[in-house]
Amino acid sequence: MLPALRRDPLRAFMDAAVRFGDVAFFKIGSRRGYLITNPSDIRHVLQDNARNYQKSPLYQKLRTSLGDGLLTSEGAFWLRQRRIAQPAFHRQRIEALAGVMTDAAAETAVRWETLATQGHPIEIGNEMMRLTRTVVLRALLGGDLGPYAATIDAAWATINQQIAESFWSFGIADKLPTPKKRRFHAARAVLHGAVDHLIQERRRKSSGNADLLSMLIEARDEETGESMNDLQIRVEVTTFLLAGQETTALALTWLWYLLSQHEQPRRRLAEELDRVLRGRQPAFADLANLPYTRMVIDETMRLYPPAWGFSRQAMADDRLGGYELPRGWLAFVIPYVLHRLPAYWEDAEQFDPERFSPSRSADRSKFVYIPFGAGPRQCIGNHFAMIEMLLVVATLAQRFSLRLVPGHRVEPYAMITLRPRFGMPMYIERRD
Ligand code: HEM
Repeated sequence: MLPALRRDPLRAFMDAAVRFGDVAFFKIGSRRGYLITNPSDIRHVLQDNARNYQKSPLYQKLRTSLGDGLLTSEGAFWLRQRRIAQPAFHRQRIEALAGVMTDAAAETAVRWETLATQGHPIEIGNEMMRLTRTVVLRALLGGDLGPYAATIDAAWATINQQIAESFWSFGIADKLPTPKKRRFHAARAVLHGAVDHLIQERRRKSSGNADLLSMLIEARDEETGESMNDLQIRVEVTTFLLAGQETTALALTWLWYLLSQHEQPRRRLAEELDRVLRGRQPAFADLANLPYTRMVIDETMRLYPPAWGFSRQAMADDRLGGYELPRGWLAFVIPYVLHRLPAYWEDAEQFDPERFSPSRSADRSKFVYIPFGAGPRQCIGNHFAMIEMLLVVATLAQRFSLRLVPGHRVEPYAMITLRPRFGMPMYIERRD
């Protein structure tokens, strides 16, 4: 399957699932594994027997380029890091951060007021990336990127592109010193510079509030009393900075795209926001009264899950869906495929936020809709991201309507995350 996966992983996985059903055998270079699409098998791998499954060697690319942090590490080390970070994501803490999120969205609204009058299209992906980065920086890391702020986006795009391009290579061509490789190292230096700047600023003057960065800096090992060294803090901060901004920004980018293509949901959303908020900024307490806004977000991440696929490796022999899964084999869990399989979704390709209404979701297995993963390795930022997206959509969709540049081709591009291959240029228009 290697050539097919390199060419178009979404199609390769989708075709296999449709053709072969719950368990599809994959041979990728010298590796073997199954694509699984039955909710009980997914539950088995990600949750019930999660101890037997580690993140697959495909994550090695992330490890070597970003370092071994919460997203990629395993075992006792992972558990320790997760416990250190967890308090920063408690529900009450996130609620307290709603103001930071709304303020950042309101600043974007001010920018957009000007952009709306200028009448030329804007790359919405960049707008969302800037917004979600601001939120992560202010809410979790309590700082700014100083001189690196201007170059960080280009640097991350380079890193993302190169990891994705080498994703299915299993390390064969990775060691050659090419111009691409040099660009990659330069980009990584920008990223490290930015993150080191954050850590040093914090060490220089403590912010006084217990945010994620101070938790990482102040954490002590229960047994040895040792704190994390700067390198390990850098790895974790990089992980949070990237995991926190990229996925959320992409979900929002796809959301603006889908709304621009579907008039009825766009109107319903506007109607809900007008009725509940009456033109004022949303607060945390409003979110419970915005069920349709939430459905639009859920439905967006169904069709375009920012983390489109992940994989695990079996540590010991197991059985999946009645088949032997020998030790060392891989299990592919691909939200993009699960979220579009006709077996689980009526009119699967149709954008229909109402399918997430309580009555229509009641009978659905929770393992066929997993934009944030599942089990112990589920996204630590899922509530944070959901609240952020709700506040951003409520702030911006109240005042603006976005229109795709006519004729622009939109296609999902499965890198590490699911990006629009040709970008998302849109006109920003004021709603009157
Ligand atoms: C819409 C937004 C987001 C989506 C779709 C998303 C998706 C995911 C998924 C699918 C995983 C599990 C990957 C796997 O099992 O291999 C994950 C893990 C993770 N996410 Fe998110 N994420 C989002 C937002 C965030 C935010 C806002 C943060 C932090 C500020 C974050 C930080 C992390 C971290 C640290 C992990 C690793 C957790 C662990 O293994 O213990 N994510 N995310």
